[in-house]
Amino acid sequence: MKYINRRLTIEKISLQKIANKFGTPFYSYSYSKLKENISNFKKSFRSFSPLICFAVKSNTNVNIIREIKKFGLGADVVSVGELMMALKAGINPSKIVFSGVGKTTSEISFAIDKKILLINAESLSEIKEINRIAKSKNKRIKIGVRLNPNTDAKTLSQISTGKKENKFGVNKNTFYEIINYCKNSKNIDLKCLSVHIGSQILDYRPYEKMLKAVSQILNKSNHKFEFIDLGGGMGISYTDKNKKLNYKKYNTAVLKFLRKHKVKIIFEPGRSIIGDTGTLVSKIIYIKDSGSKKFIILDAAMNDLMRPALYGAFHKTLPVTKSNKTSKKPYEFVGPICESTDKFVTLKKFQLLNEKDLIAICDVGAYGMSLSSNYNLRPKPIELLIKGSKIKVIRKRQKHKDII
Ligand code: LLP
Repeated sequence: MKYINRRLTIEKISLQKIANKFGTPFYSYSYSKLKENISNFKKSFRSFSPLICFAVKSNTNVNIIREIKKFGLGADVVSVGELMMALKAGINPSKIVFSGVGKTTSEISFAIDKKILLINAESLSEIKEINRIAKSKNKRIKIGVRLNPNTDAKTLSQISTGKKENKFGVNKNTFYEIINYCKNSKNIDLKCLSVHIGSQILDYRPYEKMLKAVSQILNKSNHKFEFIDLGGGMGISYTDKNKKLNYKKYNTAVLKFLRKHKVKIIFEPGRSIIGDTGTLVSKIIYIKDSGSKKFIILDAAMNDLMRPALYGAFHKTLPVTKSNKTSKKPYEFVGPICESTDKFVTLKKFQLLNEKDLIAICDVGAYGMSLSSNYNLRPKPIELLIKGSKIKVIRKRQKHKDII
């Protein structure tokens, strides 16, 4: 996105023009940014051509997944709903991995019937359940086991998953126990070790540590794995000050690992593929002066974008039309929902705003719409895919009649 003649423009269309046609709030995604992200991701790891499975939880729009599929990516899913959506988008089951700590009997059964690449199990109980179902279907099922490497991802605690106090994966003793269990099972084929230490990771060193931990386990395990699934977690720059993840160093660490272990690598990126392609555009309903600051009351709220309320996450917020006047008071951008956490950001300096002006909240392509809800019985916003000067409605705006 950039300003052209003071108007914030996505690809070749100004956000104001889109708002005039489709109303607010809306999510828009840039196709060329998506293409660039996928190409950069592939380039970063081209020396070992991993299988890249898009983490569907980050954006569940079937049209987005369809576009991603066209670049040859597979999918990482965590529920039967996501699995159905990935299949609907046309992703080949041989490129789908199924993660998650609590897969139910019917979810496992569905995944087996669809012949997906791997069910990545997270406990011995789950593996026994997979074994039981596979036996009843007289099948041999390829699985992975998620290791909890007890590695600090150095990210927000709420999105950290690789430490021993987190519910994810199994510790190394259980891991060895599982290997033995699988050796004695005719219905389970243990093909993969998976790890995922957290999300929005900007420092490559936790990945180095994770690879070391995995390497040690492999050396001791005496089991031939075909795949190592390293999960996702690659962070993006939400602020201009954010340092970027050093992909070169991550690539070097994986190459070092691959010299010792002859395996195929799987990645499960979500945010790094779709995060910075998305923008949420909202209109100012009212401006309220509270003395020390002004509340900018938007028509978008925490139900449309949950990240600031849930994690205190920061999203760059920009005026859709630029002016030279500056506000004298700080602005607090809030939504109409009856919660004090329904707040996007407070900014000390911003251009002078008026009621009915438009605001763009940036980098919301990942965990934006996918975390949205109908709280306060608010219909969900429309989603648009922008390709050059073309706009495609990829999900209609919900109507009250859909939810009432
Ligand atoms: N693989 C597994 C097993 C995961 O649990 C996740 C994310 C991913 C891959 C993709 O991670 P990514 O590349 O997107 O970082 N709602 C939070 C993020 C939660 C991430 C959950 N798991 C947020 O808005 O920041």
